[in-house]
Amino acid sequence: MRKMSFVKGIIAVLGIVLIANGCGLFSKQEKQSEIDQVLVSSVVKIKKSASELKDYNHFPRRIFKDSTHWNCVMVKDWCSGFWPGVLWYAYEFSGDEDIKKQAELFTAPIQEIAYSPANDHDIGFQVYCSYGNGYRLTGNPEYKEIMLAAADTLATLYNPIVGSIHSWPSNKNYPHNTIIDNMMNLELLFWAAKNGGEQRLKEIAISHAEVTMKHIVRPDYSAFHLGSFDAETGAFIEGKTHQGYADNSMWARGQTWGIYGFAIAYRESGKKEFLTTSMKMADKFLERLPEDGIPYWDFDAPVTSETPKDASAAAVAACGMLELYQLIDDEAAKNKYREAATSLLQILSSPKYLSGDKNQAILLHSTGHKPKNKEVDVPIIYADYYYLEALLKLKKIEAGQVID
Ligand code: GLY
Repeated sequence: MRKMSFVKGIIAVLGIVLIANGCGLFSKQEKQSEIDQVLVSSVVKIKKSASELKDYNHFPRRIFKDSTHWNCVMVKDWCSGFWPGVLWYAYEFSGDEDIKKQAELFTAPIQEIAYSPANDHDIGFQVYCSYGNGYRLTGNPEYKEIMLAAADTLATLYNPIVGSIHSWPSNKNYPHNTIIDNMMNLELLFWAAKNGGEQRLKEIAISHAEVTMKHIVRPDYSAFHLGSFDAETGAFIEGKTHQGYADNSMWARGQTWGIYGFAIAYRESGKKEFLTTSMKMADKFLERLPEDGIPYWDFDAPVTSETPKDASAAAVAACGMLELYQLIDDEAAKNKYREAATSLLQILSSPKYLSGDKNQAILLHSTGHKPKNKEVDVPIIYADYYYLEALLKLKKIEAGQVID
């Protein structure tokens, strides 16, 4: 994407006419303007937050109900890569050198993950969102080395008998568990195999996606959160939930990890069955969306006036559907996913979901772990990350560019 200076970016949207029709789909020009508008206001907020966050070993994760400021976590937390990723996206849009500096400073501590024994599958989230975006935008060769090391570290969790990565080795309730979220971390392995790493990394990613498709995606294309396997024989034992409402329910964010993860697996492997899985998971998500267009935290949770939404799932779904838009040829299907993603982003860009001056985050109303009553109906960093990613993807699509 052509970079413009931050000041130029602001000037570019100063002339934008506010669009009164908040519900209908916008014309191409109006849409472009609206995307720029929300990106500019997001970047202004991110820059301000960055000026207030000076400890580069603490990474924003969530904003508690009684606070206006990010609650931060250490580098080993699964969310550590999202804030540097947010900064890289803000830099990509604005070209602002101060933001780039912040992105570099918050990315640097994450190298520890690449060179430490693997704790869990989240290495992909931690390293690809930070170093991955940094490398995509700067081509820094040091970033490449760290990403290659991280891919090798992630691959140590692969069990060839099961054919999948052991997602949460610390969860001793299961001999070998693989979770739907793990689909998102295959991109690091695919990337490494194309960028000087061993080819077996791609084979691991493909096998992992096949096992997930066979056992964790259900015949109706909803997904279990977790699959439990016998580590010695590879046999599938059962599907369970962890963050969802019930073992047989459709946990909203899990469904969207699947939509996006299988789209990437198809893009990188060319295996049509991954594309079909992503599309059918997307169709299931769209078919079950509530009338106001944003999912509750679980599609099977009883709905009352108190039931929380999950804006993060909407943002991830938008990313996945825009990826699908780019991957498929059929015009009707392409348009269906682009329009669905646009609609999700339009609703997220409304006063109900944008945090405005309420706190440091961009989006309100995400739900992390409802069964444990943790991070319920609060801003969470990965919602902001995937929201920005989806906006940038849509901007490129509207400009006729290839999304990268
Ligand atoms: N990967 C954990 C989550 O989606 O909450």
